[in-house]
Amino acid sequence: MICSIGSHGHGRRLHAQGRNRHREHAPEPKITRRCEVGVGYREKRGDAGYELVDIKDFELPLLDEPIPPAMDKYQQPHTKRWAAKIASLDAFVFVSPEYNHGIPAALKNAMDFLFAEWKDKAAGFVSYGGAGGARAVEQLRLVLAEVHVATVRAQVLLSMMTDFENFTTFKPAPLHEKSVGTVLDQVVAWGGALKQLRS
Ligand SMILES: Cc1cc2nc3c(=O)[nH]c(=O)nc-3n(C[C@H](O)[C@H](O)[C@H](O)COP(=O)(O)O)c2cc1C
Repeated sequence: MICSIGSHGHGRRLHAQGRNRHREHAPEPKITRRCEVGVGYREKRGDAGYELVDIKDFELPLLDEPIPPAMDKYQQPHTKRWAAKIASLDAFVFVSPEYNHGIPAALKNAMDFLFAEWKDKAAGFVSYGGAGGARAVEQLRLVLAEVHVATVRAQVLLSMMTDFENFTTFKPAPLHEKSVGTVLDQVVAWGGALKQLRS
């Protein structure tokens, strides 16, 4: 599943992502860890409207469109719903853990469903894991390049050891506040600039 933060109002939107691996083996959490991280950083400033978008809410199956998304002929209702949400956003902040040095399969699947809706927008990252999720973000940057998203340099790297109490509850160290500000500065600036290409 995915979780995202998007914007209203000032014409800029930010979003992030998440997923649910506990569905078959444990009680459904009220909110996924990645959404909890997104909520923790949302609405801290007034330069854009921020919206949390959780991929899980879109109930996407494994990609089941018969025609490649770049052909822009979506047929499935879940794809059209997901496409409308991503189309409504100007920029994104992806929130993602690292799985086996990469991004979670559910995030890649959700990204693969769409094409034009990503194009000429900006993205930043908040990642977490034993090594801060740095390798997942490097992989995500490659995927985003293919769908023509401009990725900013700054990112927030959260440690499972020091930013999550008992590896579970999100309690970020204060030092990350500055990095969050830098990510949002860069994403809002590029998100605004890139709007010209889509008008
Ligand atoms: C399948 C799997 C693979 C993982 N691989 C990595 C990894 O390569 N590097 C890392 O730092 N953490 C890795 N982890 C640890 C996750 O970053 C950590 O469990 C995190 O809490 C997962 O986020 P989630 O609970 O939101 O899914 C892995 C976890 C899982 C479940």
